Amino acid sequence: MANKMTLKDKITLCDGKNFWETRDFPEYGIPSMFMCDGPHGLRKQENYGDHMGIHDSRPATCFPTAVSTACSWDEELLGQIGAAIAAEAAEQGVGVFLGPGVNIKRNPLCGRNFEYFSEDPYLAGKLAASFIKNAQKNGIGTCVKHFACNNQEYRRLHSDSILDERTLREIYLTPFEIAVRGGKPKTVMCAYNKINGTYCSDHVELLTGILREEWGFDGLVMTDWGAMHNRIAGFRAGCDLNMPGGSNYMAPEVLEAVARGELDEAMIDRSAERVQKMVLEAAEALKNKPPCDYEAHHELARIVAEQSAVLLKNEDHILPLKEEQKIAIVGQMAKNMRYQGAGSSYINPTKLVQPVEVLGEGVSVEEADVAVVLTGLPPEFEGEGFDREHMAMPVEQVKLIEEVAVKNPNTVVVLFCGAPVETPWADKVKAILYMGLPGQAGGEALKNLLYGVANPSGKLAETWPVKYGDCPSASYYPQRDGQYREGIYVGYRYYDKANVDVRWKFGFGLSYTEFIYSDPIIDGENVSITVTNVGPYAGAEVVQLYIAPPQDGIHRPLRELKGFAKVPLQPDEKRTVHFELDERCFAVWDDGWKVPTGRYTILVGGHPDHLVVAGTIEKAGQTVAIPPWQPGSWYEKPDGSPSLEQWERMLGRKYQPSISQKGQFTMNDSLLDMKEHSLVMRVMYWFVKRKATKGVQPGTALYRMLVETSSTNPLRSMQILGGLRANLFHGLLAMANGRFFHGLRLLLKRG
Ligand code: BGC
Repeated sequence: MANKMTLKDKITLCDGKNFWETRDFPEYGIPSMFMCDGPHGLRKQENYGDHMGIHDSRPATCFPTAVSTACSWDEELLGQIGAAIAAEAAEQGVGVFLGPGVNIKRNPLCGRNFEYFSEDPYLAGKLAASFIKNAQKNGIGTCVKHFACNNQEYRRLHSDSILDERTLREIYLTPFEIAVRGGKPKTVMCAYNKINGTYCSDHVELLTGILREEWGFDGLVMTDWGAMHNRIAGFRAGCDLNMPGGSNYMAPEVLEAVARGELDEAMIDRSAERVQKMVLEAAEALKNKPPCDYEAHHELARIVAEQSAVLLKNEDHILPLKEEQKIAIVGQMAKNMRYQGAGSSYINPTKLVQPVEVLGEGVSVEEADVAVVLTGLPPEFEGEGFDREHMAMPVEQVKLIEEVAVKNPNTVVVLFCGAPVETPWADKVKAILYMGLPGQAGGEALKNLLYGVANPSGKLAETWPVKYGDCPSASYYPQRDGQYREGIYVGYRYYDKANVDVRWKFGFGLSYTEFIYSDPIIDGENVSITVTNVGPYAGAEVVQLYIAPPQDGIHRPLRELKGFAKVPLQPDEKRTVHFELDERCFAVWDDGWKVPTGRYTILVGGHPDHLVVAGTIEKAGQTVAIPPWQPGSWYEKPDGSPSLEQWERMLGRKYQPSISQKGQFTMNDSLLDMKEHSLVMRVMYWFVKRKATKGVQPGTALYRMLVETSSTNPLRSMQILGGLRANLFHGLLAMANGRFFHGLRLLLKRG
């Protein structure tokens, strides 16, 4: 069909129609398609679109966010969430929904960590793959995001993620690879940022070489909202659809490039065909909608919240609570729990059950047998568009915990937050239950968990450091350029190898019951182990398999997750769990995947401190040379943060910081970059900030996000997001560069 379209129409088809829809061309039989966020529930805005959760959306089930669901370590459950969101999407006429997000949690302060699964690529990838596969069963599409290396919110629209190839492959691309190969998503969203100097939207190697040719992706790539850098380079790279639409971004330049023979029309055909395929498939899927039961989805949201909660501490088996005990329910979050994060994933829930509605107010702290404090991070502490400033909880929340703990020795803390917090008070309380951001049924789930109707079975999907300073990237995160100095030593890969004590380890979580492991067997590359519930309650264990690679060659983490299974068990019940390892489990990236020769130890278990040595596997693999810079380097023996010089040696080049300079400002510069040097941009800055935050309460997450985003958006993104004319921005840019009258002429130009 695309070959019947005019060139201009094909270019137009590759640009959205408005904030959420693709362009329809009835004359070619192409309908428009509605997309919407997001990763843990739908945000369908029917009247006015925005990409920051500002305006109302149709009610939809708010499932627990990825920070919670990852702790379930349950692929099947993730599949059920995917299918439920897809059913709601179909019911609401949405052809593709924008999720899941699989970026790695590189640093605990990333404001958007709550939307992502894990610090571990294998776990993130596997959960995403199952979500996608099940969501797409009836033809509704998903969109894996944000591809790739989008690991900070600070200046997220134009930051440059600078990293070495091995780190890119082993840590940051792997979750996408697993999700793409295993889930076959219909679409992938390219990230805002650059990778080693090239914007993701223009990145041929990323979007075509790796994604399509290596991983076999045959769907469509769309931009994140406002992420298109150069539409011509985008077509060449295989970045098919520019979103949101309406700005006609660089369409005249594309036409000229084709006319001059600089851009092959076949590349536009290819993208137009992909857009067409996506919308036609969606139209087909929307004809045969599967049933959608919002009540059942609320129940599913409750089950997921129960399965995802992590019991971090339970001294004297104070939990579960007993019916006859007098309980005090303390803390603001009893009435107003934090159940989702702020930003584009913000959902208008179909219903919301607050903890106090199911638990009651209880008795006073002095009278109580057990005092339960519901606390965590308030919404203004974390959200899309800005990073956290520190890892502490608000002072008054800590004070509350400490005061209650003094008054009542049986204090239980329930934490609601989207990322780890420092917990200097942990030793003063008897139990800690981490709910993450548990979604709209979080209140009911909490009651069931506290009273033992549900048994906590979640395990942490990220490490909780004792203090922020322990994190290897603490001293250089975030900056305008993302300096990925710590290389592959992210999360537990670092804490293990540097031997740094942490508050709670990756993979840790307690249960009301107890599991024992027996009969580990290794047969070739098949590993099995038996797990038995020897405690008094029904429960589920997360069996984790790690491979401990040899340490005498190219530097490697002490252990890496390569398998997991969630096993529900009644008291006295046992089950044998089987894992099948493949070559990739043993491989490192060294100009290709290679398995270094040596002995690999297989560790299995449910507690990171008590893993069972199942045995060893000898690999007669390949010789992988030790890089010349490795001996004696930070990477061989990580300790604290790697210096700039260490990193440059590993990277193999000098780091050149990105700078913005008057006279050379481009459409990639933001108002923040330019305002110090240009009166026009100062006025713009003031105006845009005022307009963006009109009617929004200062200090809220939304306000912070709007201020940060409006000031750090590059001009080109402002143009795309605002659906505005190019000459307006080109004019202002010329003025900022000191060419006032030229700028004025551009501003006044029509068209
Ligand atoms: C976010 C995406 C989101 C899009 C549309 C962007 O700002 O980064 O995750 O899907 O907006 O709302």
